[in-house]
Amino acid sequence: MSDEHKHSTNFSKAQVDPKNRMNDLTSREWLTFQKSWFVLAPQTLKDFILFFTKRQNAEGRASRIGIVRENAEALAPLIRALNRDAVIVEIGEEEAQLDYGLIDLSEQFPNEDSFAQTNEAWLARIHHFARRLKPQAYLTIFTRNRDAAGRLVPIAWQIGRSVSEFLSIKDEKIGCESEAGTLNTIGSTGKLSSGSLSSPITQQPETWTTKQDVIYCLNFRREEELASLAPNLSPSFGAQASLPAAVKMTALHPAQPSWFVPKPPPREKGVLLHPAKFPESLVIYFLNQFSREGERVFDPMAGTGSTLLAALSQNRAAYGIELNPQFQQIAKQRIEKFATNQLTFIAAPQWQIVNGDASAAQSYENLPEKFDYVLTSPPYWDMLRMKGAETQQKRKAAGLLQFYSEDARDLGNYDDYEDFLRTLVEIYERLAERLAAGRYMTIIVKNVKKKGKIYPLAWDLALALSRNLILCHEQFWCQDDLKLAPFGYRYAWVSNTFHHYCLHLRKEE
Ligand SMILES: C[S@@+](CC[C@H](N)C(=O)[O-])C[C@H]1O[C@@H](n2cnc3c(N)ncnc32)[C@H](O)[C@@H]1O
Repeated sequence: MSDEHKHSTNFSKAQVDPKNRMNDLTSREWLTFQKSWFVLAPQTLKDFILFFTKRQNAEGRASRIGIVRENAEALAPLIRALNRDAVIVEIGEEEAQLDYGLIDLSEQFPNEDSFAQTNEAWLARIHHFARRLKPQAYLTIFTRNRDAAGRLVPIAWQIGRSVSEFLSIKDEKIGCESEAGTLNTIGSTGKLSSGSLSSPITQQPETWTTKQDVIYCLNFRREEELASLAPNLSPSFGAQASLPAAVKMTALHPAQPSWFVPKPPPREKGVLLHPAKFPESLVIYFLNQFSREGERVFDPMAGTGSTLLAALSQNRAAYGIELNPQFQQIAKQRIEKFATNQLTFIAAPQWQIVNGDASAAQSYENLPEKFDYVLTSPPYWDMLRMKGAETQQKRKAAGLLQFYSEDARDLGNYDDYEDFLRTLVEIYERLAERLAAGRYMTIIVKNVKKKGKIYPLAWDLALALSRNLILCHEQFWCQDDLKLAPFGYRYAWVSNTFHHYCLHLRKEE
């Protein structure tokens, strides 16, 4: 594996840039850390400390790093070895302020009950901890989601949402566990690098699980003002009362890795026009996990038709809706070309792509009543319209489309986040009614960053949909073919978000 996926901690002897207010790293070391996913390694904790602190703080003394007593044995010697001061933060004590805080909760809540019992106390401790941070100082919390018989217990998301009520959440990094230190890759045929794991399903999986081999590294920043701990905060931090009952556990399918890097072949010319397309190899992997030959696959926001094309290539029937007529036409032409070249088909391939609005009932009129698998990716709110996105400037220069459309019904054109989220949830809830019982829906999405603020779209969407569907484990599609940009260099942590959530939801029998 190239070093790019690991953080580099070969602390350079290069001169410290005097304008660098955050840390003592070179621009190259800074850039490496900015990637939003990485393979966990023995030096991971050290990397966080070196990124979020200088050896000497603004007052010219050793930086003070706050930790909790549960982590003291592991962290205090490491902090001292890096010539910083380790401060164990206890409620009730008021001491000098902290330059950074690091709380490792990754093994703290092994299950739903342990979280439900201790989360309120932890939240009070984290709030106290936040009071001790200097304004502009960062706090990193390591945490995990957990399993309850095939259902996701979203502990990391709950912590992220609750702590962001008093600290600004500044994006996450996803730490990927790998025993051999190698990447999990998906080849062009949709096979995971570890072949046996991607074997197609033979029976409908009653319970589909992952190895839960990722850690969330949530980074927060203290602002001047610190909101007090709202008395009604605990319900959102605690276990959700409304989650459906646990799924019956049957080990029909081997647990999948929670993260992977698709290695797609170069994109065809026509589809380059579309600003956000997912790799067909990824679609094939999912199709093999969640559907069987001959079944009906649907994508309500089909773009240039990746889902449909991959579905047909795997002998599934393929259906889609796409709002932009230009994309719908490209999708249609790609499928027609594929269908005419396909000599192995015994029956004519079954497919249809409607040009329409996924929110409107009439778009579904001529489509099948039920689908066996839904795989889709919405616009990531109005992310494509954000100024300064480097890839957008390049697309403009190359004469490619920067936005999906100018249509007001296009979900990528909504101004208000809550409106956007509500409309999206309504579309998926309606779709859930058309999903056959016991079957799956996969949504590929990102948390969105806008003007320095995080809108946790993936978490919000999954939690809203889990009112009616069973939320299964999430997976991460990690990208390693994009160029890192030095956002925030010298003064703030801003990640290059190169991971997408793949949210899997299941309809109850
Ligand atoms: C992230 S892209 C999907 C890309 C697709 N998965 C692919 O690989 O080509 C989202 C798509 O949703 C479409 N879209 C936005 N609002 C829509 C709506 N209300 N109804 C149907 N499609 C919509 C956009 O035109 C865009 O092509």
